[in-house]
Order: sequence, then structure tokens, then C-alpha cells
Amino acid sequence: MKGWQAERLPYNGPVTLLAIETSCDETAVAVLRGNELLASEVASQTEHEAYGGVVPEVASRNHLVHAPRLLESAVKKAGVALSAIDAFAATSGPGLASSLMIGASMAKGLALGFAKPYLAINHLEGHLLSPFFTGDFEISPNVSLVVSGGHTLLVEVRALDDYRILGRTVDDAAGEAFDKVAKMLGLGYPGGPEIERHALSGDPKRFDFPRSMLESGDHNFSFSGLKTSVRYQLAKLPAISDETRDDLCASFQRAVVEVLVKKTMRAARECRVKLVTVSGGVSCNAELGREMVEACQRAGFELRLAARELCTDNAAMIAFAASLRLEAGFASELSQEIDPNLALV
Ligand code: KG4
Ligand code: ZN
Repeated sequence: MKGWQAERLPYNGPVTLLAIETSCDETAVAVLRGNELLASEVASQTEHEAYGGVVPEVASRNHLVHAPRLLESAVKKAGVALSAIDAFAATSGPGLASSLMIGASMAKGLALGFAKPYLAINHLEGHLLSPFFTGDFEISPNVSLVVSGGHTLLVEVRALDDYRILGRTVDDAAGEAFDKVAKMLGLGYPGGPEIERHALSGDPKRFDFPRSMLESGDHNFSFSGLKTSVRYQLAKLPAISDETRDDLCASFQRAVVEVLVKKTMRAARECRVKLVTVSGGVSCNAELGREMVEACQRAGFELRLAARELCTDNAAMIAFAASLRLEAGFASELSQEIDPNLALV
């Protein structure tokens, strides 16, 4: 595998690992010992709300301020000295270049300074493996739905590092659609939690929004047509009452959830797996969780949803992926560059 050293590292027993995540607008630092999470610090940036999206330069300037502070508080909470950390990891992509650089440079500097291994972790693999950061921590074969602000992926997971992309969005990611629709409706950023909150009191049947690519015969998604339908619907309404806004939220959310659930079930049946996993920011959504539980029960699949605190961006999932890789005998070269477009496979 490119950028990875192949020799096994001389570790027996639990290692203590520190991971830094700065791929977008969350700054996060976590410390893991074996499978025990000793600290997981996250600082979300609210400055982007005024722009309705993440401004890269604002994000990276904020990472520079937050990361050293979180590093200090994470090791303090974990009760370990930096010199006692066995390996340092950071997200190396995909994400915003100027944001990724901050976390990767810090982790590399620490690895260099303390002469410890460095692990460059794929953010998507962090999400993908996060449902396994519980129980027996064993990665069993599964079909995985990764739904975040930047990605919507269906992946067949055979084992660690043995992934096959089944499908992806051909335009907007699911989370991105939530964010854009929320902006249209004058709701805050990030849009997912806002839409979910308003959907609670809305009628999901009032607007019949399209279920794009539901019958496409492949495992890809499209959310841009749905977003446009909400825009057209809005343009037709003279003014929107609170009730109508809530109905739009509920109807939009229902359309996204239905497509995500049905296409995941179809992929799981086709791959003949026993297990379905769901991760990423959108997997915080309670309706998605509920519908996945019901669909998996009906179809006879076991389901693992990422724990709520692991759904949105965090460093614990990066630390977990790094610990699995370290255990498998891998570490990255210090010369490993960040890659804003890093693919999962
Ligand atoms: O995984 P994440 O924190 O960042 C990326 O890797 O992109 O995901 C952020 C996305 C945002 O688009 C946000 O609106 C969405 O996850 N999100 C939600 C919910 N909470 C966060 N979408 C729907 N319902 C939610 N409750
Ligand atoms: Zn993410």
C-alpha cells in the first residue's frame, strides 16, 4: 500500500495512541489506550454559520488556535505524558488542504520529536470503521453506508483495508443536501440537526419529493434533484409559515431517508452479508436510525450504527482506525503527504 511501511512494529499488548482530526471545520484530538478511549476532545467552529458553509481559511486559522489547546487538554484528561504516547496519527485526507495540513503537521512533528511511528489515516476509513469501536472491536464483513457532509458511500467491507466501493453520490452528498436545504429555508448551519428538529413537528407526506435513483439498478445516489425540487416548491409558495417550513423539512428528510435505507438494503442483499453498518454525520439522524433498525429487522440483517458521539467528525474514530492499522503492523512514512481528494480505495 502506497505510503505505508510494511515491516511489523515491535508492539505487544495495548499501545497508547494520540490522533488529531482537522479535515474540515472540527478540530479534534483523542487519546486511546488499547480499545479504551482515554480522552476525546472536539471543538466545533461556529464562525461558518454566517456564511452557510465552511470557509477554508477561517477553518485553518481556527485549527491553529484550537489544536494546541485540545492537545494539552486531551493528554491531561487521559493522564498520560506526551512522551508516553506510542504512536501519533492524523487525518491525511480527504478534506480541505489547508485544514488537513494543520493536524498532519502537528502529528508528524510529535512523531518526529518523540521518535514514534506516524499514521496517516483516511477520514472515510475513520467513519467506516467507527461502528466497530464498541463490543468486541472485530471488523466483520458488512455493507457500510457512510453518510456525511462530504460523502455518501456504500461500501462492501470484507476486512480492514479490504474495501469495495459499491456506490456513491453522483452529485451532492446527503449531508450537503441537508445543509443546502436548511440554508434555503433560512435555518442554521449545519443544516442536518436543524432540519431534523423542524421535521419533528412537520408532515412528511405533505410534499411528494422525488426519490432520485431509487430504481436506478445500481448503488449510486443523487440528491441534487431533490434539493432543486425543494427550491421549486418554495418558489411556488407566496410565503412560508412555520407549519409549511416544518412540513418541507419532514418531507425532505423522509425522501432522503427512504432512498438511503432502501438502497443500503438492496446492496446488503446483493453482497449476501449478515451485517449492515452506518456512520458519518447524517447517521446522527434519528429517523434514519429508526428506519434502518426496522428495515434490517425485516430483512434479517444485524445492524451497527456508529455511536452518536462518533457520528460527526471526531478524533476517536481516527485513533481507532490508526490502532487497527498499527496492530496490523503498519505505520506511515513521515514524508506521506496530505491528499484533499484521498479515495477510500
Ligand atoms: O461526518 P461529518 O461531521 O463531516 C463530514 O465528514 O462531512 O458530517 C457533517 C454532516 C453535515 O452535513 C450535517 O448537516 C450532517 O452531517 N448532520 C446531520 C445530522 N447531524 C449532522 N444530518 C441529518 N441529521 C442530523 N441529525
Ligand atoms: Zn466526516
